[in-house]
Amino acid sequence: MLSLEVCFLVMMLLATLLYFQVTSLKMTRHQKRKIDETHVEGHEELDAASLREHEEFTKVKNIATIELGRYEIETWYFSPFPPEYNDCVKLYFCEFCLNFMKRKEQLQRHMRKCDLKHPPGDEIYRCGTLSMFEVDGKKNKVYGQNLCYLAKLFLDHKTLYYDVDLFLFYVLCECDDRGCHMVGYFSKEKHSEESYNLACILTLPPYQRKGYGKFLIAFSYELSKKENKVGTPERPLSDLGLLSYRGYWTRVLLDILKKHKGNISIKELSDMTAIKAEDILATLQTLELIQYRKGQHVICADPKVLDRHLKAAGRGGLDVDVSKLIWTPYKEQS
Ligand code: ACO
Ligand code: ZN
Repeated sequence: MLSLEVCFLVMMLLATLLYFQVTSLKMTRHQKRKIDETHVEGHEELDAASLREHEEFTKVKNIATIELGRYEIETWYFSPFPPEYNDCVKLYFCEFCLNFMKRKEQLQRHMRKCDLKHPPGDEIYRCGTLSMFEVDGKKNKVYGQNLCYLAKLFLDHKTLYYDVDLFLFYVLCECDDRGCHMVGYFSKEKHSEESYNLACILTLPPYQRKGYGKFLIAFSYELSKKENKVGTPERPLSDLGLLSYRGYWTRVLLDILKKHKGNISIKELSDMTAIKAEDILATLQTLELIQYRKGQHVICADPKVLDRHLKAAGRGGLDVDVSKLIWTPYKEQS
């Protein structure tokens, strides 16, 4: 007889296959490779008709609004909730365990029983009222999956990962006497061959444009620094993702260039910031601070030009106080 774990695994694999079959077009190269590695036989490309059907299906926003904590939030995109939620236009989330329900009364009943007051996992950062929790997808599978369902409502181009085991989730919260309320999060693969230090990032709509996005990005680079690695976000980036990253990279790099009066190499910039050299080069090229001389990229940073760019770069976002980060890189436990 199959054990429960194996049954669950088989079910997850089937669900994943089914989902990937309809979403193969939206997969990143990395995700494609991951699926290829599972040696799925007979997984042909979708024909034009199935493709159209898939596009029609995922184009339609299924859930229109969600209730989460004290907010009612309008959703942006389709998210593949289980079939029993097909008839819902509104879902009620427990803001702590992220379980979702069809009716308000169910949520009220749940809130009387749910004893979580913050995300499961370890609090790895606390500064004033801000806390960051690290949630291991393997130890908190249901939470990880609920978070993915929720996040997909605001992420257009990402494929939902059922296999949350492979990820760590960094959940940012604003804390008060009622508990720690989720503001946003980013996910990170436990092992990335492509040196991705962030898979998906989200600031919940009520908290957007307040600097939390740049905080989450800065946090992902602080983790990379602790790992002694350079990192880059998983591609493709959404428009808002690209804007946020461009803003972050620009500000961080310009600050250092200003301090060093431009006398610094791309490699040194990468070592100091954990930003991948390609992203540094692309940012500086966009700012027209790079010249190509004798087969090499050289930084040309006129102080006046730097000041002009810094002024245009906008606000810096919320700072990460590294002294408040208590974290060691992930190690597989035997
Ligand atoms: N209009 C114009 N510019 C914007 C907007 C907007 N609506 N939102 C963010 N920006 C730009 C601005 O340059 C802003 O800096 P500024 O406020 O100093 O001008 C910068 O992005 C970052 O602003 P933050 O307040 O730090 O970021 P925020 O908390 O709003 O989060 C994020 C940014 C995470 C991209 C958010 O918009 C979001 O969750 N979007 C939906 C999900 C998404 O697209 N995620 C990225 C996918 S790519 C990936 O996951 C690898
Ligand atoms: Zn709950």
